[in-house]
Amino acid sequence: MSDGETASNSGDGQRKVFVKTYGCQMNVYDSQRMADALARDGFVETDKADDADMVLLNTCHIREKAAEKVYSEIGRLRQLRDRRRKGGADMMIGVAGCVAQAEGREMIARAPAVDFVIGPTTYHRLPDVVARARGGEKVVETEFAVEDKFEHLPRQQARQVQRRGVAAFLTVQEGCDKFCTFCVVPYTRGAEVSRPVAQIVEEARRLVAAGVREITLLGQNVNAWHGEGADGRSWGLGELLHELAGIEGLARLRYTTSHPRDMDDALIAAHRDLDVLMPYLHLPVQAGSDRILKAMNRRHTAEDYRRLVDRIRAARPDIALSGDFIVGFPGETDDDFEDTMRLVRDVTYAQAFSFKYSPRPGTPGADMAGHVDEQVKSERLARLQALLAEQQAGFMQQLVGKEVSVLLEKPGREPGQLVGRSPFLQPVICDETVGKIGDIATVRIGRASANSLISEPVERRRHAA
Ligand code: SAH
Ligand code: SF4
Ligand code: F3S
Repeated sequence: MSDGETASNSGDGQRKVFVKTYGCQMNVYDSQRMADALARDGFVETDKADDADMVLLNTCHIREKAAEKVYSEIGRLRQLRDRRRKGGADMMIGVAGCVAQAEGREMIARAPAVDFVIGPTTYHRLPDVVARARGGEKVVETEFAVEDKFEHLPRQQARQVQRRGVAAFLTVQEGCDKFCTFCVVPYTRGAEVSRPVAQIVEEARRLVAAGVREITLLGQNVNAWHGEGADGRSWGLGELLHELAGIEGLARLRYTTSHPRDMDDALIAAHRDLDVLMPYLHLPVQAGSDRILKAMNRRHTAEDYRRLVDRIRAARPDIALSGDFIVGFPGETDDDFEDTMRLVRDVTYAQAFSFKYSPRPGTPGADMAGHVDEQVKSERLARLQALLAEQQAGFMQQLVGKEVSVLLEKPGREPGQLVGRSPFLQPVICDETVGKIGDIATVRIGRASANSLISEPVERRRHAA
């Protein structure tokens, strides 16, 4: 920090920042990059608020509950700060992410304990915002910026990669132009922007050189990514994946989240042609009724989705599908909901997320007629989740007895264990004898629990014990 101020110094000469992340993987990625930017200003990361000189909440606005959580957290932090001030210490409170973007200055009116508010497209201004806030100004930085939001930040360093493991995220696309009528993302993240190929390839190479084995390409609408290729042609995500697959040492590629409308032929072919592209696809459909899909502005029918899934499975028969569902969108009748249940039965998911519709102020859905009773939403959600849980258990169960490859990511909860992920994204608990972190081990699955797979040797030991 250039102003030489020491008021919020923790005493050991190093200021500490606690970054708390809510919401999607974009936020996880952004939080890491913000911590990197703050490290240049002398902040070290801590994993608890108690001893932090600054707490930065990276927030999510997607459903009402998510947004409300932020205000209760600020309340708790204010109390913590009051206690610390009595001891002569201080703590700065910053809010980033989608609630920051959506509420802007109102956030400070509602929660005056907040020192600064910064939106997702302006993170390159974070050091400046922090400096101004430390000078006593309440800073609100939420104008959409056109620059690359991390353009001025230092390159990710090997040290950071080591700390963060062998599987990394890489943002390739931001924002959304789809305007589904339930969704705040187009308003909080702004218009769709794709990062250029050269930048993506450079970041991927750097990650791999630092020991990363698996990269997940991120975007709110990742398969809408497009850019000018190395060959001067216009590329989509399929071509980009081909390019990245050529990076030596990179063992696995994934991407998330996709929109059904943007699954083009080249991308489907990539699932057939690229061994490094993992057989897992998150492809939200939201609902199974054409009437509701139309009201949601998804711009495809349930039948389009079924046909798309058939084409993807023809290209990659073992692919594990995941999805998102909303129940109780305005106007959803019992029949509409049954259409969703039928679609889920037809498609069969390995895993999925499902939510009750939450009206978001400023989105068209919030003003539609026919809001569904909370009670009805809860009943529908329970039925849908029971079906999805059954499908997930079925998917896990059919892996028992089979060999799967596992990228070993970290030590397990018990001594002697390592945890990694299967190609289909489930955590797999393995014996540490199968390899070391960063290795891809082949193990036989001995047992499946609700959310993870347990490899055979571990299983045998447990029986013996
Ligand atoms: N870009 C992604 C979704 C991002 S939001 C996509 O298009 O698939 C993640 C999920 O949250 C959505 O897929 C949707 O299922 C859910 N969601 C978004 N807005 C919601 C709302 N208002 N109420 C309930 N669920 C919502
Ligand atoms: Fe939201 Fe729809 Fe855009 Fe996904 S595609 S981020 S659900 S508006
Ligand atoms: Fe939430 Fe914003 Fe992500 S609203 S889901 S954090 S894009």
